[in-house]
Amino acid sequence: MNRKKNKEIQDLISWENWKSQDIHDLILLAEKIKNNPSSYANTLMGHFMFMIFQKTSTRTRVSFEIGMTEMGGKAVYLDWDKTNFQLTPIQYETAYLSSHSSVIVARMKKHEDLLKLREGAEVPVINGCCNIYHPCQALADMFTIYEDRGSIKGVKLLYVGVYNNVVNSLVELACIFGVHLHLVCPICPKEVVDNKMREKLKENGLLTESLDLKQAIKDADYIYTDTWIDMEFFGQKQYKDLQEERVKIMLPYQVNQEVLQNTNAKILHDMPIHLNYEITKEVVESPRSLILKQASNRLHVQKAILDFLI
Ligand code: CP
Repeated sequence: MNRKKNKEIQDLISWENWKSQDIHDLILLAEKIKNNPSSYANTLMGHFMFMIFQKTSTRTRVSFEIGMTEMGGKAVYLDWDKTNFQLTPIQYETAYLSSHSSVIVARMKKHEDLLKLREGAEVPVINGCCNIYHPCQALADMFTIYEDRGSIKGVKLLYVGVYNNVVNSLVELACIFGVHLHLVCPICPKEVVDNKMREKLKENGLLTESLDLKQAIKDADYIYTDTWIDMEFFGQKQYKDLQEERVKIMLPYQVNQEVLQNTNAKILHDMPIHLNYEITKEVVESPRSLILKQASNRLHVQKAILDFLI
């Protein structure tokens, strides 16, 4: 029960192994779909999509469900804890799901479990965020930049925060689109960082890493930040020490009014926002914040990904 039957299936686990042209085309397709959604209303008629989620979600779940529905297909959401995935090898359950669907979106806690899930699937699997990558988010981020300035190549993107799954996906897409990525990441968990892609970006002269936020913001077109602790751990008693330690290290790197005053850069955040940790209210709500646009762009990008893969 594995992929041997059909090795040609294309998944979106990360952007590795995707053709550069296809990724560029996805941006243009997302733009077309956003500008003229009714032209794509029946594109996925008769197609089913399963969404299996081990973790909570607002944007990923909503945008995929609405996207599939608006394109004429049907999305079925499965809460991991209410399924029998826990009782059996993951790939057997996925093999069953793929017999009734055209695509599967999965949000898994561990990347290795996502790969097991993919092993059983005879349809494309889309990573709806695992501990190592968040490919759909990063494409929506690039699309938001594209929409804001009309092109992506050469843009200077500063990410300040803990090195996480979103950063790995931003690094992959920075290579593809020719984005100058400046990482100010005082905490880089070694089990998360995808060194292969980071090195590639560095070789291409597109990666700067430093801990000097004041200096870094001077040169940035966009400043991007994200949660300092995995969202499923946030506020949990057993992660209190980890949270306190991270807050202590990260507070000098908060994106706040002082940061805003020293730059004309626009502000990105993938949400959910932890107010007064990584970012403050004035910044979230400032005219330079693209955060809500960035979140709502998930829909158009997701539709483009579904259209391409199905
Ligand atoms: N940014 C993001 O993936 O949001 P959700 O966790 O709410 O899906």
